[in-house]
Amino acid sequence: MKPQTKHIVLLPGDGIGPEVVAQARIVLETTAQVFGYSLSFEQALIGHAAIEATGDPLPPDTLAACRRADAILLGAVGHPQYDRNPSTPIRPEQGLLRLRQNLHLFANIRPIRIFDELLDASSLKPEILQGTNILFFRELTGGIYFGQPKGRDKARNRAWDTMTYSRQEIQRIARMAFEAARQRRRIVHSIDKANVLESSRLWRETVTTESKNYPDVQLHHMYVDNAAMQLIRAPRQFDVVVTSNLFGDILTDEAAQLTGSLGMLPSASTGAQIGLFEPVHGSAPDLAGTDKANPLAAILSAALMLEHAFGWHEAAHAIWNSVSHLLAEGWRTPDLAQPHTPAAKVVGTQQIGKLVASFVPMVALSSPAP
Ligand code: NAD
Ligand code: IPM
Ligand code: MN
Repeated sequence: MKPQTKHIVLLPGDGIGPEVVAQARIVLETTAQVFGYSLSFEQALIGHAAIEATGDPLPPDTLAACRRADAILLGAVGHPQYDRNPSTPIRPEQGLLRLRQNLHLFANIRPIRIFDELLDASSLKPEILQGTNILFFRELTGGIYFGQPKGRDKARNRAWDTMTYSRQEIQRIARMAFEAARQRRRIVHSIDKANVLESSRLWRETVTTESKNYPDVQLHHMYVDNAAMQLIRAPRQFDVVVTSNLFGDILTDEAAQLTGSLGMLPSASTGAQIGLFEPVHGSAPDLAGTDKANPLAAILSAALMLEHAFGWHEAAHAIWNSVSHLLAEGWRTPDLAQPHTPAAKVVGTQQIGKLVASFVPMVALSSPAP
């Protein structure tokens, strides 16, 4: 029987985005072939690349292509030209924010998984890190990112954003977190700033009410300032973490450092029918065009796509296991290199992609699920 073809829209975006997406595509193609699946690909513009071509960071054609997709893989958006002039009215990041909003992707899942081989790559001590495995649920279409009003007065001496949440927005992300905890260690930390913010008080109250439906899951509330400290003091205490859009953005970049590099952290933006899979990192203009970017966050985002969007569990596990194998053999991009990594094993973006793809057939035969 001819396998059903899954259609993937690639949004390479800006900076290192195209470089890491190209490697993720190679890994996807090899993995599909090994497991007898069929994939088709289409590429569309987003971010600075889209502004340059059309004046719009999310052109209508891109949104239409995304709506037709079975899943979307994004690289990154962002360009120093706007970072230097933050008041520019049209910015690359708006493309990504509008995409998340239009596709109702309210839940951004960010797994923090430490590969044993990288215990010495983090700035934290291995004994603090060992055994850490955290699943973040970052609310993605609400909070201060989207709340109205937002603005700036004419004289430009005052500006405002609004942090707003509805009970329903909190409920739906909390439920996802509690459900996920049931498949894990049954601990949820809900992170807020309820000692100061009214929206956090609603957050805490709603999560507490929702927790009554999950008596088998332990719920802990934690203030975000303490959480930022606890994450690097004793990361193993966390199992599932649920938090708002802004706090989740900040805490997961911090948590990335537990894994050794921001270049290791994948994510899945879900909530509606079509999922968007996106590395947590940005366009890293300092690395763009140097073949030094770590493509593993994008490659692992592709693995999350196979798992969450298509239910291809074995194929997804094969990608995770190929990455483990790569690291066990000592291959590293410069962000993960340690003084004792032999120079011969510090390689570029493209070489890492090729190696991961080359290990898939072997691990597909032998490896248990991670
Ligand atoms: P960044 O994530 O691009 O980079 C932060 C640091 O991490 C840099 O030192 C960079 O070299 C390093 N880094 C990031 N990804 C890496 C990788 N794959 N391999 C190795 N090192 C990596 O964040 P920034 O510098 O704050 O922002 C740069 C631009 O990216 C900005 O315009 C910002 O708005 C945008 N941004 C986009 C996204 C996204 O598209 N999802 C996320 C964050 C930032
Ligand atoms: C992320 C990024 C985005 C965010 C930016 C680029 C809009 O930092 O995906 O973490 O803040 O959500
Ligand atoms: Mn971010």
